[in-house]
Amino acid sequence: MFDTIAVVGAGHVGATTAQRLAERNLARAVVMIDVLEGIPQGKALDQWQTGPVEGFDSRVIGTNSYDEAAGADLFVVTAGIPRKPGMSRDDLVKTNAGIVGSVSEEIKRVAPNAFVVVVSNPLDIMCVVAKETTGFPRERVMGMAGVLDTARYRTFLAEAIGVSVEDIQAMVLGGHGDTMVPLISYTTVSGIPVTQLIDQETLDAIVKRTRGGGGEIVKHLKTGSAYYAPSAAAVQMVEAIVLDKKRLLPCAAWLEGEFGISGVYCGVPCLLGRGGIERIVEIELTDDERAALHRSAEAVRSTMTVAV
Ligand code: NAI
Ligand code: 2OP
Repeated sequence: MFDTIAVVGAGHVGATTAQRLAERNLARAVVMIDVLEGIPQGKALDQWQTGPVEGFDSRVIGTNSYDEAAGADLFVVTAGIPRKPGMSRDDLVKTNAGIVGSVSEEIKRVAPNAFVVVVSNPLDIMCVVAKETTGFPRERVMGMAGVLDTARYRTFLAEAIGVSVEDIQAMVLGGHGDTMVPLISYTTVSGIPVTQLIDQETLDAIVKRTRGGGGEIVKHLKTGSAYYAPSAAAVQMVEAIVLDKKRLLPCAAWLEGEFGISGVYCGVPCLLGRGGIERIVEIELTDDERAALHRSAEAVRSTMTVAV
């Protein structure tokens, strides 16, 4: 268990994340911070009072001040505005870069040794903003996207094949956008290559649906974007760090030559434990997958110039 985990942004993703963290007893205190007065306080009080029913002792605290998160072990950053219908993630870049920049300044001030898990979009760019502003090493600043994108891919595959989601092993790499790279060569159903169980046309349709997975939900919701699966994905990363689980998960990491890519955040297989990103695992890729990963990283890099 960590002493304190802070969640910045008490909106849909942030509040759901705080609740999941508390329900899993991952920290003595879960501190939710937002610029809106009353919202983090009210939501935190409500969540704290869930403890006796759900059986957790985490103290959930809502505040507008970072001082309540002084010395926190880990921050999940969800502050920002979400996508509206017709908006791409990149449309959000300037507004959210300003927000994530100011949040990162505060993190550096109150908790210079913290881990930072970024969720705000455009994800890969916001990771750069957080890393540059805090000056923290790459082991401690990572982004959540691959776990979510992979969850969507696994969900669609499980339904199409007619098996439990638990038996689908897969990884989606690359940037969190239309260029993301589902690794078909590593997609298996209990070790059986997925291509033995599903035809190419269905697989292609699932890859396409995965790439548009976030947008599909925005179209339904109209006034916001997904938050149940995103918060579950963020908490899976946090849990891997808190419990030193050594999970191998697709996370946005700052690349310094891995896969032949440098100077950009991109989704790659990462070993997560108490050291944060303890290792980036350079798996073999097919020529097509490698080219797609490079294209995706370059798409991130081109947007990066807008923000930093
Ligand atoms: P939301 O609008 O429900 O919540 C955002 C919250 O951030 C609001 O409560 C707002 O008051 C707060 N906020 C704004 N500026 C702030 C600041 N300077 N300091 C502290 N709080 C501040 O949005 P939602 O749905 O929670 O999404 C949050 C972010 O996460 C968005 O950027 C969204 O695009 C992104 N997202 C990323 C995903 C991923 O896979 N990486 C998945 C889902 C959402
Ligand atoms: C998602 O993929 C909006 O990035 C967010 O749902």
